[in-house]
Amino acid sequence: MEPVIRERSTQTNEAGRCAVLLPVLSELEGPLALIEAGASAGLCLYPDRYSYRYDTGDGIVSLDPPAGPSAVELPCRIDPVSVPRRLPEVVSRSGVDLNPLDAGDPAQVEWLEALVWPEHDARRTRLGTAAAIAAAEPPALLRGDLLETVPSLVAQAPRGSRIVVFHSAVLVYLEPDRRTRFVELMRSMPDVTWISNEGEHVLPSITGQLTGPISGRTVVAVDGVPRALVGPHGQSYEAL
Ligand SMILES: C[S@@+](CC[C@H](N)C(=O)[O-])C[C@H]1O[C@@H](n2cnc3c(N)ncnc32)[C@H](O)[C@@H]1O
Repeated sequence: MEPVIRERSTQTNEAGRCAVLLPVLSELEGPLALIEAGASAGLCLYPDRYSYRYDTGDGIVSLDPPAGPSAVELPCRIDPVSVPRRLPEVVSRSGVDLNPLDAGDPAQVEWLEALVWPEHDARRTRLGTAAAIAAAEPPALLRGDLLETVPSLVAQAPRGSRIVVFHSAVLVYLEPDRRTRFVELMRSMPDVTWISNEGEHVLPSITGQLTGPISGRTVVAVDGVPRALVGPHGQSYEAL
């Protein structure tokens, strides 16, 4: 039988998730050194470069980068109390992925666009626009396994910055014992802020703290403490 040659992996990258990371990122004293585990093309490493339109039910609260509105506008439903007040200052953007993608390579971006569900036109458009932002100032992405690579990325983060390791929709791809090892790794780094955004059965040590239903959403947690239930593509944020 002919060998099957795989040229591409089935991957996604959703910049919209920045809208549900921002409420917790904006609380941190910066400047921030962002490290993303399972970064794909790194589009979630630019929370300071996107515009946000938070719908509180009473109206829209807009948040734009200091340089002016971004070409990427992220809508998100949120309770008024949780609306972030500011964008973070980001001094470095790095990450690891089994197959890091280059946001500056049109063929790789087209492949990511092809994997967005057909009816999700707004997400597809956003992907291309966010990729242009990332391509203008590329992140430092390493090819590798997150368990092995995150410690060296932490060691290389700029001194004087607050180091934030985050991941969204990634640990589901790891076997349960490797998820546990990753949790232990993050707990072994008390000076690093750990932000997770994962689905219902992925991190029992976090979801076990919840009392109500998750209802198809993911859980944003900071240092292992659940903070919000959020739309899987960053479309809603319900504080816990
Ligand atoms: C669903 S995508 C999410 C990408 C990005 N975090 C986001 O929110 O848009 C999952 C990513 O995790 C990566 N990944 C899965 N297992 C990994 C591992 N063990 N180490 C590093 N990256 C991994 C995949 O290659 C893929 O790019």
